[in-house]
Amino acid sequence: MATPQTVLITGGAGFLGSHTADALAARGYQVRILDNLQSEVHAGRWPGYIQRKGYQLIRADVRDKAAWMKALPGSDFVFHLAAYQDQRMDFSRFFTTNTVSTSLLYECAVELGIRLRGVVLASSQFVYGDGAYRAGGRVFYPELRALKDLRARRFEIQAPGGGTARFIPFREDQPVTPTNSYGLSKYALEMAALRLGKTYDLPTTVMRYSIIQGARQSPRNLYSGALRIFVSQALAGVPITVYEDGLQLRDFVNVHDVVSANLLAMRSRKARYEVFNVGGGKAIRVIDFARQVKEISQSDSEILVGKFRRTDTRNAVSDTSKLESLGWRPRYGTADSIREYVAWYRAEGFHKQADTDSLLALKKGIA
Ligand SMILES: NC(=O)c1ccc[n+]([C@@H]2O[C@H](COP(=O)([O-])OP(=O)(O)OC[C@H]3O[C@@H](n4cnc5c(N)ncnc54)[C@H](O)[C@@H]3O)[C@@H](O)[C@H]2O)c1
Repeated sequence: MATPQTVLITGGAGFLGSHTADALAARGYQVRILDNLQSEVHAGRWPGYIQRKGYQLIRADVRDKAAWMKALPGSDFVFHLAAYQDQRMDFSRFFTTNTVSTSLLYECAVELGIRLRGVVLASSQFVYGDGAYRAGGRVFYPELRALKDLRARRFEIQAPGGGTARFIPFREDQPVTPTNSYGLSKYALEMAALRLGKTYDLPTTVMRYSIIQGARQSPRNLYSGALRIFVSQALAGVPITVYEDGLQLRDFVNVHDVVSANLLAMRSRKARYEVFNVGGGKAIRVIDFARQVKEISQSDSEILVGKFRRTDTRNAVSDTSKLESLGWRPRYGTADSIREYVAWYRAEGFHKQADTDSLLALKKGIA
C-alpha cells in the first residue's frame, strides 16, 4: 500500500482549516496542523473538533522561521490559511502574519530542498476593495468612500460626475484596489507566492474567498462577519445591527463549498499558478440576509440599520466562472449556512455565555 501523503495546514485549528483537515483525512491524507492558537479565537487551547483525530498538532507561529523549518519536512502539500484578519490599527501585524509568513514558507522549502507538490494560499475578496463600477458606458475604480458621505448616509458609490453607478462583479483579471491593511497584505502575499512558486517550481494556487459561513466560526473572532454577529444578536434577543442601509450586496459562501474548492485547487494541474474567486454564486442584500437569520433562528429581535465602518466596501460579489470552468459549483445557500451555524452555536452553548468581551460588544451593537 502506498504511504499516505501529508498535508500541512497552517491555521488548521481555525474555521476553514479544520473543515479542510477533516475533508483531507476522510480522503486518506495525513494531516499536520501548524497553529499558534491565537488568543481571540481559541483561548490558548486546541479546539475539541480537531482533537483525537490523529492529526499531528504543532503549536507554533507562522511568523517564526523555526516553525516552518520544523513543519515542512515530510509535507507533500501545504495549505497556508493562518492569518491576521481584522480592521484594527496595528497595520504591520497584517504584513508580518500574512505576507512575511508566506515568504518564509518558500524560503524554508527552498532552503530545505523540499519538492512540494502543491501550495494553496488563502487570499480574500477584500483584495478588490470596492472593485469596478460602470457609469455612462465607462468603467471606473472608486476610491474609498468619504467619511462625510457616510455620515450623511450617502452609502451608494457615486459616478465621477455624480449620479448612479452600476457595480460589476469581481473578476480575477481586473485591477485590484484593496481598502485596508488586511486586503493589502493578502494581495502582497499573492504576489510573493506566485513569483516564488514559479521561480522555484513549487506549484502554487491562490484562492480569493468571499465571506465564508458555517459551523466552527468562532463567536470570539470579531472579524468573522455578519452571520456570527446576527446570530449572536438574534439568539440574545437584542437588536440585529446591520451596517449602512442594508442594501449592500454580498455573495456569502458556505464552508463546505470552499473546502471542495480547496481540494480541487490542490489536485488540479490546471489550477497551478492561477488565482481563483471562491464565492457563493448569488448576490444577497445584507438586510435580506438579516431577515433570513431572524426567521430561521425564530427571533423577536428588531433589525436596526445606520451604523457604518470606515473601510467597509459597498458591494462585494465575485464572478466564479473561472473556478466553475474546472468543474466546481457552489452547492449550499445562505439558509443552509444559517441553519448549520445556529445549530452549532446552540450545541456549543454560546447563547448561554454572553459574558465574553466580544458578546458584550455585540449586545451593545458596537462590534
Ligand atoms: N472566514 C472568512 O470569511 C474568510 C474570507 C476570506 C478569506 N479568509 C481567509 O481564510 C483563512 C482562514 O480563515 P478562517 O475564517 O478559518 O479564520 P480563523 O480565525 O477561524 O482561523 C485562523 C487560524 O489561524 C491561526 N493563526 C492566526 N495567526 C497565526 C500565527 N501567527 N501563527 C499560526 N497560526 C495563526 C489562528 O489561531 C486560527 O486557528 C484566512 O487566511 C483568512 O484570511 C477567510
